[in-house]
Amino acid sequence: MSNSVSIGHGIEWGDEGKGKGSHYLSAPGNAERTVSVRALGGGNAGHTIITNARKYALHLLPAGCLHDDVELVLGRGMVTHLGTLLGEIDTVNDQAGTDPASRLHIAAENHILFDGHKLADKELERRRGANAIGTTHSGIGPAIADKSLRVGMRMESLRLPKDKLQDEYLKLTRHWQATYGVQMDGTTSEKEVATLLDAKEKLEGKIVPNMTSYWRDVFKNDYANVFIEGAQGYELNIDGSGYPFVTSSAISIDGHMHGAQLSSKRLTSRMGFMKAYTTRVGGGPFPTEIHGEEADHIQTLGGERGATTGRLRRVGWSDITRIDDVVFNEGLDALAIMKMDILDDRDVIPVCVGYQNGEPVYENLPGWKQSTRGITKFEDLPENAQNYLRFFEQRTGVKATLVGTGPEDVAMIDRR
Ligand code: IMP
Repeated sequence: MSNSVSIGHGIEWGDEGKGKGSHYLSAPGNAERTVSVRALGGGNAGHTIITNARKYALHLLPAGCLHDDVELVLGRGMVTHLGTLLGEIDTVNDQAGTDPASRLHIAAENHILFDGHKLADKELERRRGANAIGTTHSGIGPAIADKSLRVGMRMESLRLPKDKLQDEYLKLTRHWQATYGVQMDGTTSEKEVATLLDAKEKLEGKIVPNMTSYWRDVFKNDYANVFIEGAQGYELNIDGSGYPFVTSSAISIDGHMHGAQLSSKRLTSRMGFMKAYTTRVGGGPFPTEIHGEEADHIQTLGGERGATTGRLRRVGWSDITRIDDVVFNEGLDALAIMKMDILDDRDVIPVCVGYQNGEPVYENLPGWKQSTRGITKFEDLPENAQNYLRFFEQRTGVKATLVGTGPEDVAMIDRR
């Protein structure tokens, strides 16, 4: 056996079902060690996982956290809200009966995201007025800005003595006031300090001072299975064409590898996640967006409401030109096409195959008008559903190795 290192990368605007897929793909198999990694972003990511008749909405813990024995890494590319992380640890502990904290490894360089960053995020959005980005108000932009300004606090701060930790925090509150016009009231500050001290007690022992040593140890025996769970999606890359309607991280495979502190050379599989249709939450262009009854219907069937903000997601058709570009740019070698069952009742399914005068040109692919819900074998799919998948495979030259046929973790076709 040799080490396997895979990534599940979002091809679109996030919410492609990576949570469910990452939970599925980071199940411990024959590997001696399985590691589930989050590398970028923070609480802006929302992952819904349904397993053993329970639903979990997670934002920070890697999706592998519901499996016993899977090691969990929060990489240096993340910005982590301590209160949310502690809350998720308790939830998983109580409801899934497995303790994620005992398996947690947090890079010392991972930045702490405070309530002050959330207030700054809201304030900046308010100032943008009609040009608001539609952020998740999770504080991502300001936390990453503080990192770039080199004033942020990193997880390694939790090792400071309590009074020093508190001083560092107070220094940061003065910076927020001067930079973002955010005045922290006494109650919020006291709450933040209490959370910092709680986190110091509970998480200090989970901080990894040197991730290189950790990874060397993981790979030493050639028996490891590492799964990196993509945050957001390709179209939300800070350096992408969608700027400024993007998030604040470099959402690419290389960006994730940097955030995990792993060389891309190690990757054995690069899987791109997409939906059988497309959604976007927040502002910004969405050329294949649809409106009216058709959109409402898909929104309802697909439960298209943001796991982080509760906002309704905008809905539209897949754009094969963009998908093919992402396959090319990211060197994808597999596709995961999720939520096939949501299109079960359609006569035809339009897919954008090009643009004329800036407007999408569609090819109408025949629907299958039959339930695919819960199907786990490709051969059991109706012929037109198989053909729908083949369309994406033929246009991109990449196999659809994972196909989602329902919300539960077991509703999956696995052709790896
Ligand atoms: P921010 O990351 O909260 O600053 O939000 C910037 C943009 O990215 C907004 O349009 C958000 O709706 C979008 N966004 C951020 N994270 C996610 C995600 O995990 N899924 C979908 N959209 C996201």
